Amino acid sequence: MTHTISVIQQKGGCGKSILTVSLASILAGEGHNVIIPDTDTLRSSSLWASQELYSRGEIDHVHETNDNEITGLLRELQGQYDYTLVDTAGFNTRIAAYVAAASDLVLIPCTTTLADVQGAVNTQRFLAKLSAEIGKPIKNAVVRLDFKRKETNDSAISDELSDEADLDVLDSVLWHSTSFKTALNTGKQLKGRAKVYTQELVRELRSKHLVPPTINLKKAA
Ligand SMILES: Nc1ncnc2c1ncn2[C@@H]1O[C@H](COP(=O)(O)OP(=O)(O)OP(=O)(O)O)[C@@H](O)[C@H]1O
Ligand SMILES: [Mg+2]
Repeated sequence: MTHTISVIQQKGGCGKSILTVSLASILAGEGHNVIIPDTDTLRSSSLWASQELYSRGEIDHVHETNDNEITGLLRELQGQYDYTLVDTAGFNTRIAAYVAAASDLVLIPCTTTLADVQGAVNTQRFLAKLSAEIGKPIKNAVVRLDFKRKETNDSAISDELSDEADLDVLDSVLWHSTSFKTALNTGKQLKGRAKVYTQELVRELRSKHLVPPTINLKKAA
């Protein structure tokens, strides 16, 4: 049974594709079978997954922008992969609602602007409303990206996020590192600090039971 994680945020340029491919890189590196359904017309994450510069483990991808097709596609993937990681173009499209409804977990990325904070708040409200409409809980959590530890503005943004009572903000942060952008732009595997930060995020997701421990590990040592 696949575990479906989608990455959704109203605001563009908030790290959705970086978060998607970084998680894919770590989970596949553990030996899991991973697929990225990319529902964004820009194709950032499917282009990343289509490059085979060197082995990233097993990462498939599929590009699907048709909201009439996405639910059926996600259903088809059940049983075929350990993890399904869905990249989206934001939630102002019907497709994001279908994706969210089919997800075990929605991650809401947020970089260091107030517009991103507002986008995260709007996204959480959207998920709460959708959840009430479909009568099914939709687990969700905010992931901070591109924060700098010593930047006053960035800690102020973290405070803004903490002040939003309805947001579940994860402790792990994908701190600023050019390796994230390099990985996304070149199709290469995550390395260095970017890898460590994403591994920490995966550990936290597992410790909070937002992601299952490990699934069907065929290749792990
Ligand atoms: N941890 C990080 N370290 C460095 N840069 C980061 C980090 N996280 C995000 N970024 C920056 O954020 C930018 C946008 O990231 P990304 O393309 O993943 O966003 P997106 O939400 O997918 O955008 P779009 O709405 O266009 O699909 C990157 O080009 C990069 O500059
Ligand atoms: Mg993107």
